[in-house]
Amino acid sequence: MTTRITQLWLENRRGGTTIGIDEPAPRISWIGDGSDAFDLEFSWYDGTVQTSTATGSRLVAWPFRDLAPRDGGLLRVRGSAGEWSEPVPVEAGIGSDWRVDFASPSIRAGHGGPRPAYLLRARFDPAALGAADIARARIHSSAHGLYQLELNGERVSDDELAPGWTSYRHRLRYQTYDVTALLREGSNVVGAWLGDGWYRGHIGFDGGLWDIYGTDVGVLVQVEVTTSDGRLIVVPLDGAWEWRASPIASAGLYEGESYDATAHPAGWSREEGGEDEEGWAPAQRLPLGDFPARVEPPTGPPVRQIETIQPVSVEVVNDGRIRLDFGQNIAGKVRIRPKAQRGDVIRVHHAEVLENGLLGTRPLRAATSIDTYVASGIAGEEWTPRFTIHGFRYAELEGWRGGVETVDAEAIVMHTDMVRTGWFESSHPGLNQLHSNVVWSMRDNFVDVPTDCPQRDERMGWTGDIQVFAPTALYLFGAQGTLAGWLRDLAAEQWENGHVPQFVPWVDCGFPNFPTAAWGDAAVLVPWAIYEHDGDTGILADQYPSMRAWVDLVDRLTGHTGLWNSGFQLGDWLDPAAPPESPGDSQTDRYLVATAYHVKTARVLAETAALLGHEADAARYAAIAARATEAFQHEFLSASGRVVSDTATAIALALTFDLFPDAAGAARAGERLVQLVQAGGYRITTGFVGTPIICDALVLAGSVDTAYHLLLQEELPSWLYPVTMGATTIWERWDSMLPDGSINPGDMTSFNHYALGAVADFLHRRVAGLSADAVGWSRIRFEPLPGGGLTSASATHESPLGTTACAWQRNGTVLSVEVTVPHGAEGIVVLPGRPDAVVGPGRHSFEVAFRAVGEDPRPLPPRWRPEPELVEA
Ligand code: BGC
Repeated sequence: MTTRITQLWLENRRGGTTIGIDEPAPRISWIGDGSDAFDLEFSWYDGTVQTSTATGSRLVAWPFRDLAPRDGGLLRVRGSAGEWSEPVPVEAGIGSDWRVDFASPSIRAGHGGPRPAYLLRARFDPAALGAADIARARIHSSAHGLYQLELNGERVSDDELAPGWTSYRHRLRYQTYDVTALLREGSNVVGAWLGDGWYRGHIGFDGGLWDIYGTDVGVLVQVEVTTSDGRLIVVPLDGAWEWRASPIASAGLYEGESYDATAHPAGWSREEGGEDEEGWAPAQRLPLGDFPARVEPPTGPPVRQIETIQPVSVEVVNDGRIRLDFGQNIAGKVRIRPKAQRGDVIRVHHAEVLENGLLGTRPLRAATSIDTYVASGIAGEEWTPRFTIHGFRYAELEGWRGGVETVDAEAIVMHTDMVRTGWFESSHPGLNQLHSNVVWSMRDNFVDVPTDCPQRDERMGWTGDIQVFAPTALYLFGAQGTLAGWLRDLAAEQWENGHVPQFVPWVDCGFPNFPTAAWGDAAVLVPWAIYEHDGDTGILADQYPSMRAWVDLVDRLTGHTGLWNSGFQLGDWLDPAAPPESPGDSQTDRYLVATAYHVKTARVLAETAALLGHEADAARYAAIAARATEAFQHEFLSASGRVVSDTATAIALALTFDLFPDAAGAARAGERLVQLVQAGGYRITTGFVGTPIICDALVLAGSVDTAYHLLLQEELPSWLYPVTMGATTIWERWDSMLPDGSINPGDMTSFNHYALGAVADFLHRRVAGLSADAVGWSRIRFEPLPGGGLTSASATHESPLGTTACAWQRNGTVLSVEVTVPHGAEGIVVLPGRPDAVVGPGRHSFEVAFRAVGEDPRPLPPRWRPEPELVEA
């Protein structure tokens, strides 16, 4: 065990910023070092040092004086026996003290296609403003559009796609950058690249929209210096800004970027060395007060370049292009280092899959995803686009001089820079690949907003997708901050009548925007998932009005009967039996789905109200939940336990949402579920709603083995079919690629959707056996369910209290289990053939008798089974 605390964060913003924050008294968390007591120390900028002690390591109340705007210092923590942690800067943002306006080129370009990006710059001299001895320099900044800042020729941060996508009409996030080290004596130049991005670019499907939030892009940049005697100087930049055309001839998130390196004005953001002083014109000033959005700090980490991937193959293809296979479907972009001549035009085409030997670009729809580079011919040139992102595994270079041997290109993976917190491993290579695919689909779809897919003309924050995926997301990564920010947008976009748009931020591109179960329920179930994971009611308190508004709306839609049986529903979306062009036509009654979700959500809200101390509400929502339960039973259950839609999704909902009046009915339905899955040849018959819960339902039905058969199935439709087809991410449809290698004819076919990957939650909780038994992981349940011919499985999670793990192995008829309980938690170990054991922090090993691997029922072709070892006679 280490004696130094290595991770420290504020509120639930693990991995997020600690400077430029809103809270005057942020709660502090860290990963403990096994100590029971901790010392905290805060060295204020004014030289005072405050100390305090704490007994826990989670959400410890700020023990120092409140932070005034811009005030701060260095925080460190140590355990009773250990060393001080590295100091972390903690600093308040500027609140609403904006003293600058947007600077804009004010070019209202038409939109025949993606539009150019611009350069803006402003000079300032801190000394001329009386700043002699500078202690700190900060830039607080944001943009309408996408921006990247430079100060004296250096990039100010490694953020990508800043300020990210929020519901810009309500909320605009600003970043705070520490630029003390970049400041120089005399004149300084702050420069900005500025593109359309989500603010003004082309967003949405079925044609999409342009200029969604406004017609003018602009940057908001407040430079501040604080002198060593504590004086604050806000640099008056308004009026100092000038702008000119940039080398980015066009940039669209969907379309890609075109960059002309021959038009790059070298040194444009430096005081000296500027080669090209032509073309600058005064920028327009757009008053901040003219825009309604609240400007606030982010709650989650920024998007960054996370890793680079080298191609696994480089080959010339039919039309002379050079194809790069990166071996992994990602969200990001390609960086090239061409040995080119001035004026060479290189195009980079992107696609997730190949079809008939060509890039399969049809699924991208209007997101053409082509980057274009006009080379400067200067030795050592290197380029990657600034204001676009693509979903791809393959890239093709067109116009590359010099053939395959000269190719110097790599893929850059980009997403929200979340801390990884969850792992899974087993003896089954197919399951491991499935899990890896889930992790990648999460990474590729957490690009600031939790999206449906990263490649086509969509990339929207679909509420239903994250509703089913949130528990998995919170296990795999520290996604709280990202989701908390997105939930603020959800509440902001929610209609007065409580309606939750189908995706958030909402883009009105013609999709039917009606209250829809399982999608709108994200308003309640996503905050609840965060609460269950962290044990912090803060997120519930923040979202409470939004949660209530949704349930009240549904209650009204049911005419206060609890039965939701009218209006638009997406239902069990993408049921494999639905025709490709009609993914909502599922076999399960959509109103059964809607009513079941109404019960679940109303119950959760009743519990939330009780937790928050709203007694009257708790009773009211409990009554709504009870009424809906009765309505569900009356309408959809027979007295003997049949479910009216005789489908796996319907029964799985009734079982996992606990909708049966008695155990006998549930047991009968469980038997029927097993029959249905068997009759379906252990293939998937469920859509977005049923798939995440079907394995759990089978376990509740008492048939772990059936769950394994379904899980390990490789024939279409199944989780492992895509794996057998070489998938490296989770597909939107079971058969996004058909067995003959052709792409599903539906016009909605993505190879990177996390929703159906929600099964990873089952792998963690049930296959490996690691789950929280109380909110916040203060009590951990270790209950592995061996089967399916697996010889081992393990899950590890960096819980709020520290590392917890459950690993099992089977040798002959011995099942060995090792569990790890973090400090501050207790574990309950539930194993076959022995009484449950309660264990404290530390590692504990158990051995019990269990059937041998060879006895596991396995009705499937043993493709994933290791070859039997040849034994010499
Ligand atoms: C999205 C989904 C979404 C669905 C609902 C699709 O276009 O990609 O993931 O939930 O529409 O209509």
